[in-house]
Amino acid sequence: MATPLTSAIMGAVSSPRLAIALAQCGGLSFIHQNNTVEEQAAMVTAVKRHKAGFRFSDINIKPSATLGEVTILLESAERDVAVVTDDGSPHGTFIGLISTDDFHPRRHNLDDDVASRMRPAADLVTAPPTVSLSEANTLIWDNRLDVLPIVDGTGALQSIVLRRDYELHKQFRNESIDAEKRFRVGAGVNTRDYRERIPALVEAGADLLCIDSSDGFSVWQSETIAYVRERYGDRVRIGAGNVVDGRGFRYLADAGADFVKVGIGGGSICITRDQKGIGRGQASALIDVVEARDAYARETGIYVPLCCDGGLITDSHMAVAFALGADFVMLGRYFARCAESPAPIVRVGGQLFKEYWGEGSNRARNVTRYDHGGGTKLTFEEGVDGYVPYAGSLYDNVDTTIVKLKSTLISCGATTIADFHRDAVLVPVSQQSFLQNTAEIQLRDLQSDTAR
Ligand code: IMP
Repeated sequence: MATPLTSAIMGAVSSPRLAIALAQCGGLSFIHQNNTVEEQAAMVTAVKRHKAGFRFSDINIKPSATLGEVTILLESAERDVAVVTDDGSPHGTFIGLISTDDFHPRRHNLDDDVASRMRPAADLVTAPPTVSLSEANTLIWDNRLDVLPIVDGTGALQSIVLRRDYELHKQFRNESIDAEKRFRVGAGVNTRDYRERIPALVEAGADLLCIDSSDGFSVWQSETIAYVRERYGDRVRIGAGNVVDGRGFRYLADAGADFVKVGIGGGSICITRDQKGIGRGQASALIDVVEARDAYARETGIYVPLCCDGGLITDSHMAVAFALGADFVMLGRYFARCAESPAPIVRVGGQLFKEYWGEGSNRARNVTRYDHGGGTKLTFEEGVDGYVPYAGSLYDNVDTTIVKLKSTLISCGATTIADFHRDAVLVPVSQQSFLQNTAEIQLRDLQSDTAR
């Protein structure tokens, strides 16, 4: 991986659309496992089938919607064209395109339907799913198109190619792709139905598996890893977790985990510590596990990479996680805020938010991750259901994060994460140090600044 960021194994986070965007940026998503084996495998297949440069159509509308509704849709997504499909879904029958050039709020009645102003499919250039990216781009430039819809033989929309992605695609030098140039994608698994789930995910093309559990120090994880080794040898890679101390790490490393995930109770949506008194401060957990990982490597010659999972809110938190010894990080809240996450955008008090809920909340009811012996229902919640401020495009956010992380490494004289583990110096700081930053400055509010 060129970008050491992974997205959390959560229904509010790791959808195929987000997985594609993150793989384009060099990271990796783990498709969540709070669904049927067939549903999860289909999501993995959707990522593996998605050709580089071909996007999911995310701004879609029905022909019967009003011009007022399409205006709100385009404004909130900061886009200027929507795809019209019969049912308003990304894979519905392709009906046409409607852009901000096709109507004007003062010239046209916003109660009129989209069908009255859209450019219908019959007048548009489209291409079949067999088209290559370079052929698609030729069609775009020859016909002066902004959007090329990819439509299959039944008339269903498959994806779109955007003119503005032409330059963008050339920037994706670090894409996470396999030997067949398909995007890489991970998948969460559990310790119950792994005999059915793992073969289906491997068949669908999952590149990496991870046991999804809030408590990884268990014989069930060891059995799940043993199943993978017996059936696939080293051909299938599987991580395990989560643990918060050296004993938990060693148990999973001895069981053959290909990486170990660290963190209990630190997630932004997590209430496990309040509910059960279980968990550990994320830095304390990481320091302990890193020590165990390094001792294990010295003793056995086997380096088991560590993933720091939960509670990383800012880019500087990630920098500290790497400095403490993490090899990569897993992020829930961070990605849930992005346009590409599967959760809806909502407007609260004039501000845009994305919905974000824990796998241990009643909304997710993930009983394979949170087993309280209650069968198919949670006996109590270990996560909350809430909102996080909308942060726009994943591409922009990841880009900024990576620039900042590189800058942190450079400040410490390191050019690789391994060097950073070795060279970074961590010092305790007082509460006063936190208070110092910008404490005596009234920050300028550019929007309401009349003094200029
Ligand atoms: P975040 O990046 O701080 O939002 O934390 C995300 C992580 O929280 C996930 O990768 C999980 O390990 C963990 N998590 C997910 N759902 C829950 C929950 O409902 N309760 C506790 N932890 C959770």
